[in-house]
Amino acid sequence: MSVFEEMAKDGTIWMNGEYVDWEDATVHVLSHAMHYGTGVFEGVRAYDTEEGTAIFRWEDHLDRLYDSTKPYDMEIEFTREELTEATLEVLQRNDLESAYIRPLVYYGYDSLGVSPGDCPTDVTIAAWPWGAYLGEEALKNGIKVKISSWRKHASSQIPTNAKTTGLYVNSMLAGEEARRNGFAEAIVLNKEGNVAEGPGENIFLVRDGEIFTPGLSESILDGITRDTLITLAEERGYTVHDNVSISRGELNTADELFFTGSAAEVTPIRQVDNVEIGNGSRGPVTEELQTAFFDLVNRETLDHDEWFTYV
Ligand SMILES: Cc1ncc(COP(=O)(O)O)c(C=O)c1O
Repeated sequence: MSVFEEMAKDGTIWMNGEYVDWEDATVHVLSHAMHYGTGVFEGVRAYDTEEGTAIFRWEDHLDRLYDSTKPYDMEIEFTREELTEATLEVLQRNDLESAYIRPLVYYGYDSLGVSPGDCPTDVTIAAWPWGAYLGEEALKNGIKVKISSWRKHASSQIPTNAKTTGLYVNSMLAGEEARRNGFAEAIVLNKEGNVAEGPGENIFLVRDGEIFTPGLSESILDGITRDTLITLAEERGYTVHDNVSISRGELNTADELFFTGSAAEVTPIRQVDNVEIGNGSRGPVTEELQTAFFDLVNRETLDHDEWFTYV
């Protein structure tokens, strides 16, 4: 039985201020976002910790959610406090100790011109259990990734720092192309041909003991896990270059590569196309930072308590 079939039995989703049964959390087929991809969303994890269920960097996800609405002129009618309250309640009502949380804001049902006109800005929050996005094995041994034949949108075409639903057709194309060819995930280059990110992950490169990740002007999402890893690495004395361009060729000669994301957490990359990275398994820097990350989110170290919202 799929997770959603399980949740459908007695799960609850918050929609525009109401708690509704999982099966009743539906939208009209003529909703604006269904046709034009006019939604913005977040993907957030809550961890089951010694201190209880803890949402990781909730406030930063909320910041990004509100920021993502700006280019689309959407007005969220709920305050941050109301969205926080709803999220905590959704976790409790669904008896979730750990969860993936999906807030979604979208233009709803009123008319179907490309202009959203009087379409309402609808808001929903759902949560469900979600294990390792690319699998437990991937976290330990790393994954094989394929450089996508699809390029990332340039920020002059669509704001890539807004987490917009419509953007993810590009991610889907890249990811599915990779999987059809026997790889676990894709790396997407930007319009200039430099490394941007994964379909749902930021990317890091380790070379000669220093850490590199594409800058915000490389058409990437300003990842919250990216920021977490930069902080954890700097705290451990690493030099992190977080405003660089990385060429495709530099991937091949990296000592280590890894992905970060709320879903993917910290996933080592062991092969890019036909090229083995480093010694073809999780490298030592990746392992150190991955351990630091999981110790943090599981609250095995109590650092950065300001990053956690407890249920
Ligand atoms: C395109 C893209 N890049 C990067 C990320 C990583 O961002 P975060 O760490 O905030 O989840 C995500 C996931 O949200 C994503 O979809």
